[in-house]
Amino acid sequence: MHRNEPSPARHGGAQGDRTIGERREASSAAKRSPDARAEPSIRPRAPRLAFDGVRRHWLAGSRAATQVANGVNLLFPAGERFFIRSVRHYLDRVSPELAADVKGFFGQEGRHAQAHERLFDTLRAQGFDIDSLLERYEHIAYDYIEKAAPPPLRLAVTVALEHFTAILAEDALSADVLAHADPEIRRLLEWHAVEELEHKAVAFDVLKEVAPSYALRVLGMVVATMTLGGFWIWATRALLEQDGSSFAEARRELEALRELAAREGETRVMDPVGRRVFLRGIREYLRPGFHPMDRDHSALIAATLARLEEEGVVVGAQSADVPS
Ligand SMILES: [Fe+2]
Ligand SMILES: [Fe+2]
Repeated sequence: MHRNEPSPARHGGAQGDRTIGERREASSAAKRSPDARAEPSIRPRAPRLAFDGVRRHWLAGSRAATQVANGVNLLFPAGERFFIRSVRHYLDRVSPELAADVKGFFGQEGRHAQAHERLFDTLRAQGFDIDSLLERYEHIAYDYIEKAAPPPLRLAVTVALEHFTAILAEDALSADVLAHADPEIRRLLEWHAVEELEHKAVAFDVLKEVAPSYALRVLGMVVATMTLGGFWIWATRALLEQDGSSFAEARRELEALRELAAREGETRVMDPVGRRVFLRGIREYLRPGFHPMDRDHSALIAATLARLEEEGVVVGAQSADVPS
């Protein structure tokens, strides 16, 4: 199966017309089939990206919008390596069908971390002292919080963070957020978003196999919301300060951008992150029957991949051979 032709089992196909039970049955049946096992649907790609010409305020020419985006981007590489560690802990306990997707997930997240770290060099060249921020974030998040959490909670936090990431990805690809971004960063984030949507259910399915507790899932969401929200605000505030601005000033700038977007008919684009990502994410996630595949992103994935291939960012044949 070509990677631009999403598997009906993984990406849903006409799942909007089916009940959740029918969709899950179809998904399980497809996963049991020899074809599904022979050719896993989740594969890492090696995008061709060069960040040399990236402007300081690369998102909508706005200091505030750029530093909000840089703030979360700063968290990605170490966060993605944490996701890999959390899932890898259970690798020998997952079913063989899921193990193939888990390996694809490792490969994709590893590639994302590397690509975002290349963008860090651009921030350094622009004069940002990101290394002291990274050091403090990694120390608190992974030397303290991760070590204090037992493995099932680490996995549950990963699952919840993957849900937030999938929302960010859907947003990036469908709400015109990236139309106002530097073209090379747009390509980076589009490639990342596509792969996030491709593997959005992997950590969830691992948790379901090894620790299927609703209470644990909810506890993971509580920790994920506090840590992602807290570190994102902290990193954004620090970057704004380094950029000669403040949180209060940035809020006013974002408000003005929202008004401009609304006048231009882009009402969703500049909704506050708290509402667009966190409130929506928590509401969806708390539903007891929630599954990441409830939303069908296959058309979004296929359309974005087609554009990235046309632009030469990803090449059709390369995906199968990228080592994880
Ligand atoms: Fe990622
Ligand atoms: Fe992910």
